[in-house]
Amino acid sequence: MNEARTPGSVFNAVQLGYLVIESARLDAWRQFGEEALGMELAQRDERLLAFRMDDHQRRIMVQTGGAEDVVAIGWQLRDQAALDTVLARLRWRQIAVTPSTPEQARARGVAQFWQCTGPKGLQIELFTNPLLNDAPLRMRTSAFVTGAAGMGHVAITSRRPAAMLAFWNDIFDARHSDDIEAHISGLTLDIRFLRVNERHHSIAVACTRGRRMDPIRTRIQHFNVQAATLDDLSAAYVRCRKLGFPIALGMGQHTNDKELSFYVRSPSGFEIEFGWQPIAVDEHGWQPAVHQGISIWGHKPQQQTLGDKLGELGRALRSLLGTEFMPNGF
Ligand SMILES: [Fe+2]
Repeated sequence: MNEARTPGSVFNAVQLGYLVIESARLDAWRQFGEEALGMELAQRDERLLAFRMDDHQRRIMVQTGGAEDVVAIGWQLRDQAALDTVLARLRWRQIAVTPSTPEQARARGVAQFWQCTGPKGLQIELFTNPLLNDAPLRMRTSAFVTGAAGMGHVAITSRRPAAMLAFWNDIFDARHSDDIEAHISGLTLDIRFLRVNERHHSIAVACTRGRRMDPIRTRIQHFNVQAATLDDLSAAYVRCRKLGFPIALGMGQHTNDKELSFYVRSPSGFEIEFGWQPIAVDEHGWQPAVHQGISIWGHKPQQQTLGDKLGELGRALRSLLGTEFMPNGF
């Protein structure tokens, strides 16, 4: 195992813990999470859905609202010392941090969390103690790979990539895994992959080269979950297709982390990457490389209409006019 944590660093002490989505389409999300992605529906009422992937009470929550987006990302810190380090760094930069109420913490399935507004206006929620559920999982997927490397990764488009990367480096001691240069829809994209533990990346930041544009409506372009077996991956692909959830990118394999995956559009519009067997980074001798294109093979765009493309183009052009939120000092 890696033991690359240096004194004062929280590298290897941070992991992606949970995601909170806001959507008006709870019925579609229920079917998507339970029947397509193959997670366990842990709670359902008229205001909230919660899904289980492992022994945590909940990993993905969908609360009612109009954002159709990921609105908060929960990051689990290994212990109180790591949490204190991160909180001190935020406060030193005069970034406002507030503690959760007991009711808010219960809704997230954690004992307590601390909250601040992160890059692009995403809520960052920091916690150390998830509430656990030892009951056997009832899922169509045999298991998800979570553990100390967290539940997957998030990919974010940014018009201020230098500030966003500095934030994750300074607050989480994120390390640069590698880069991908990709050509998509006539744009050149530079994607930088950051790890906070042995997972090849917990955060990917994509930007357009030259003039910075953001063609993506949502704060998160996709999030990734990792299934335990190849059978889980192919079964999820078949279920998504059968149920009619649009496949954005067909099955393929990435150039950098070698993960085999497909991308399906969620009921809120952003995508989920459902994957299997990415490499883990061995800190000893790892060298960041620049890869050409996101895929060795596959990941062919599917079911994208001309309207989708025009929508993205319009958003990219409008994004030139707006500002992208960054926390104080970044
Ligand atoms: Fe990904």
